Amino acid sequence: MDDFTTWIRSELDRLEAAGLRRTIPDMDRGADRYLLLGGRRVLNLASNNYLGLAGHPALAAAAAAAARELGTGSGASRLVTGTSALHATLDQRVAEFKGQDAALTFTSGFAANLALFAAFAGRDALVFSDRLNHASILDGILLSGARQVRYRHNDLDHLSRLMEQHRDHPRKLLATDTVFSMDGDVADLAGLAELCGQHHVPLIVDEAHATGVFGSGRGLVHELGLERQVALHMGTFSKALGSLGGYVAASRDAIDLLLNKGRSFVFSTALPPTVVAANLAALDLVAADPSAGPRLLAMAGTFRARLAEMGFNTGGSSTQIVPVLLGSAQAALHARDALLAHGVYAAAIRPPTVPQGTARLRISLRADLTHEDLDLALTAFRALSTEPEQ
Ligand SMILES: Cc1ncc(COP(=O)(O)O)c(C=O)c1O
Repeated sequence: MDDFTTWIRSELDRLEAAGLRRTIPDMDRGADRYLLLGGRRVLNLASNNYLGLAGHPALAAAAAAAARELGTGSGASRLVTGTSALHATLDQRVAEFKGQDAALTFTSGFAANLALFAAFAGRDALVFSDRLNHASILDGILLSGARQVRYRHNDLDHLSRLMEQHRDHPRKLLATDTVFSMDGDVADLAGLAELCGQHHVPLIVDEAHATGVFGSGRGLVHELGLERQVALHMGTFSKALGSLGGYVAASRDAIDLLLNKGRSFVFSTALPPTVVAANLAALDLVAADPSAGPRLLAMAGTFRARLAEMGFNTGGSSTQIVPVLLGSAQAALHARDALLAHGVYAAAIRPPTVPQGTARLRISLRADLTHEDLDLALTAFRALSTEPEQ
């Protein structure tokens, strides 16, 4: 073996020894309520398809019609020939949905965050960032060359001290998830908005997991009536909206700057017409009937209460994302397998996705779960809770 091949092997061995090696599961129909794992049908508590829209006939019909009319690829970046009337309509619809002047859409939420920080951060900027913010925020800040100052998760006292400490920095921003993806808790947006207001720091929110669920589908900022206090509203179509892509909604000037300086926008092929059409159909559905979000949140409240009765720790979750904190990576993997034996699939989340010692099962509830599905899940957890100590 040459040196490079040996190095690759040793990296894999290291991950394996730490219980951190990831493999792609033998899975099919992973967005459905019941997925196929190694050919076996199991209840899916792992996808982010919170409203079940990824399988909705209206999205499929819109995508199929767009494919027939416009083909499957957009051919170039939107600044070259990749844009279409459909893309412009989606930008406009997102802006309206978010109550902003303008919006821009991206090939993924990850790409949206990379573009956002490339455009608005940069070497001269300092970005306050919650310690549990999504990897795409961390990477976006890092790539932009900005100084990143991370505050303890949801700890406004800590943030306030840091803001004081950096009060003389000439250009500051603050970025936060609104719903934290691995913990299912929410940012104290009112508190953050107040601090940002006092210190003249533009507030940037990532509504990836709140979109479609909170605020009549428009997100947590809308639910709390804080639109005016937020400078940049980022979100995704890939989770509750059942499709793919990211967006940023903001003032007209901010969007003009973003489309000039957001490298993952400028140098990347536009979303295909099929996906744009599906995104529009998803927005139409959520706008026409926003009742699924509250129903899902009520279901999650009951589910958390049942888990607590069994002695499980669901942390600070107050949303459709329910972590079951287990500690070691091995404990999380064991719990995942124990649930699977009962026909239930939940993802085991381990470091580095979450901090050391906080490995967990991440339960993603969805609005289309039936009473029978929830009973099945709770039966599986009950069996786990009564296992003899290892
Ligand atoms: C908070 C947050 N932001 C951004 C993203 C990236 O979105 P996408 O999956 O659409 O690239 C995710 C996805 O996991 C996320 O959880």
